[in-house]
Amino acid sequence: MSWVTFVLVVLGLIFLALIVYWQFIIAEGTYLGSWAVTWLYDWSAHVYERIKGFNVGDEQWFLGLPLARALAMIPAPLVLDVATGTGRLPRALLRQPAFEGRVIGLDLSRRMLREAVQRTAQFADRLTYIWQDAQELPFEDGTFDAVTCLEALEFMPDPHRVIVELIRVLRPGGVLLLTNRIGKDARFLPRRVFPRDEFELMLQETYPLEDVKVQVWQVDYDLAWGVKRGEPRGGSIRPLPDIMRCPHCGHRLGPALADSGNGANEAAYHCRGCRRVYPIAEDGVIEIAQPRRP
Ligand SMILES: C[S@@+](CC[C@H](N)C(=O)[O-])C[C@H]1O[C@@H](n2cnc3c(N)ncnc32)[C@H](O)[C@@H]1O
Repeated sequence: MSWVTFVLVVLGLIFLALIVYWQFIIAEGTYLGSWAVTWLYDWSAHVYERIKGFNVGDEQWFLGLPLARALAMIPAPLVLDVATGTGRLPRALLRQPAFEGRVIGLDLSRRMLREAVQRTAQFADRLTYIWQDAQELPFEDGTFDAVTCLEALEFMPDPHRVIVELIRVLRPGGVLLLTNRIGKDARFLPRRVFPRDEFELMLQETYPLEDVKVQVWQVDYDLAWGVKRGEPRGGSIRPLPDIMRCPHCGHRLGPALADSGNGANEAAYHCRGCRRVYPIAEDGVIEIAQPRRP
């Protein structure tokens, strides 16, 4: 091998290593598709909290308390946390004595949800987890008093589409809480993050939102608050069968017993339109992402 070939091979390997580092470490698989993001989170779910090192006091003070205050006028608010991960937001909110509502946490990584179930066991009676893609939320329009999505929009194939979906399931007058990635790595996430100085105006002008405020939150994230435009209505906890709908055909989902395949019956949700069956797993997670056909 001549030295020219040797140098070219070394440069090629360095280039390849940089691409792999960018795609898997910085972008966490987002440009390869949701399957790659989910695979990475499934793989690292057991160490996620250790890596993040959440501080209980900070989480309560900077997340749980402001959200509980924003919902203080509603007697029993219903909150959806999209891309809930290991249940960080449910934990911060349900620890607030002033919050007497219920939280639904949704994520596409089944292993992150398994961790979430364990880490929030003390709040199990006020908490439901759903395994599903944020791009197709399995809920009626205008359902929730607050919808949150923290540290996750940049991992979605189309963040705009997800924001539209978050606002769809928020009731008029409801609170939206979002993060936008900033910091040194943000420049390596084109089409996944929003320019910092345009984010507030973009939210206000592109979506049916008012009272939008973007605040500095963490080294890598700004936090955006907004309220869905329209005459405030409804609010408070509603039973799951009243709010859940099939992501495939849009019909209502009802509770049912389904054949688990080994002769026994298992708890499930059942679509009244296309008749797909969505099992409720042993850990209580409603598995919308992988329905069974009737
Ligand atoms: C950095 S974690 C944030 C978790 C949590 N919100 C927090 O602040 O700790 C990103 C989460 O987004 C989830 N996620 C990525 N793409 C998703 C999608 N398309 N639908 C639902 N969840 C998704 C991942 O599985 C992961 O749990």
